[in-house]
Amino acid sequence: MDSTTCLNSLSERARTVRSSAVRDLLRLTEQPHVLSLAGGLPAPELLPVERVRAATIDVLDRLGSTVLQYGPTEGVGALRDAIAQGLGGSARAADTVITTGSQQGLDLVARAILDPGDVVVVESPTYLGALSALHWTAPRIVGIDGDADGLRTDLLEDRLRAGLRPKLVYVVTEFANPTGATLSADRRRDLAALADRYGFVIVEDNPYGKLRFRGPNLPSIRTWSDRTVTLGTASKILSPGLRVGWLTAPEWLSRPIVIAKQGTDLHTSGLNQHIVLSMLQDESWLNAHVATLVSTYSERASALLAALSAYLGHAIEVREPDGGMFVWARLIDREAASEPLLAAALERGVAFVPGSAFRPDATDDGTLRMCFTTLSPAALGEAMSRLATALPTGVLSASAAR
Ligand SMILES: Cc1ncc(COP(=O)(O)O)c(C=O)c1O
Repeated sequence: MDSTTCLNSLSERARTVRSSAVRDLLRLTEQPHVLSLAGGLPAPELLPVERVRAATIDVLDRLGSTVLQYGPTEGVGALRDAIAQGLGGSARAADTVITTGSQQGLDLVARAILDPGDVVVVESPTYLGALSALHWTAPRIVGIDGDADGLRTDLLEDRLRAGLRPKLVYVVTEFANPTGATLSADRRRDLAALADRYGFVIVEDNPYGKLRFRGPNLPSIRTWSDRTVTLGTASKILSPGLRVGWLTAPEWLSRPIVIAKQGTDLHTSGLNQHIVLSMLQDESWLNAHVATLVSTYSERASALLAALSAYLGHAIEVREPDGGMFVWARLIDREAASEPLLAAALERGVAFVPGSAFRPDATDDGTLRMCFTTLSPAALGEAMSRLATALPTGVLSASAAR
């Protein structure tokens, strides 16, 4: 078939899926000489291979063929109970659905709630995978700025007062991807009040909450509004390859979500759900494992921040995260863009993701997301010294003069 016929054979959504120059550049980050801070992966050496091996043998010995059979769409009952308990009093096991990663949770919520043209508000910048998942239901995506305390609920309120009527508002609550910001308790309360007043659903996505380096845990938005869907995942603490995530929805929404899941993949792998359950129930192992993740990531975050300050302190301002996997930074020179910087950085063997990749309108405002989990402190130092040489001299000297 010629290329026009091929294009005509695709759905409107497949034809209009966002592709960008940044994605093409990011393909180059996989070359072996590149020190990549572009991925968002857990440290491979901390993936619990032996514990997964033991759990797999234990599950097969105990449960045999049942875990290899088809299972309920909602997920394994004992895992749903454990997740609901872990989420605290307001989560009901009956409204908790096990999903194939939290990415599927996003897709299912969108399918259950949205029609083409409906308004969805996201913090801008936001998780790229959320923008990808939302694309398929064709909503109008409106980005509202965030800052160090997460989504600017005051700006959202202004827009609501002016007539904006979202059906769904999506936020990453803890150590967000990409900004590392945590939504403050006051803003959680404000967002909940706005949801109740204007009738939208809040999707709070929290894959990184257990990776807290410092500070107290904050309450879920569900504490203040029952219009909240909470998404979680085993990906960042156990293994993304197991593809086990979950969501807890309001009662009226959980059934439509289960029906959407039936049409998508029938159910999440039973074997993998039991493996995750077995590891979550092994509390002493789990606590020790999470403590290792937290101390390793915290050390790597500190190394990245120190190297940023040493090599790029005059040119880049940085937001220090309280946990998670990402540092968010911005070129002090407000004229400078980060997409050309990525091209120059790749030539010198270092990669990051330009902030434009995370914005619904793709604006390049000179921001950078850097993932610190997969490189050693020494490699992070080397990466920042390479990045410093990629900056146009004007950026360094102009900002150093300030
Ligand atoms: C904010 C956020 N939500 C959801 C996901 C998807 O995770 P998974 O589908 O592996 O649970 C990610 C992955 O990076 C993420 O950063």
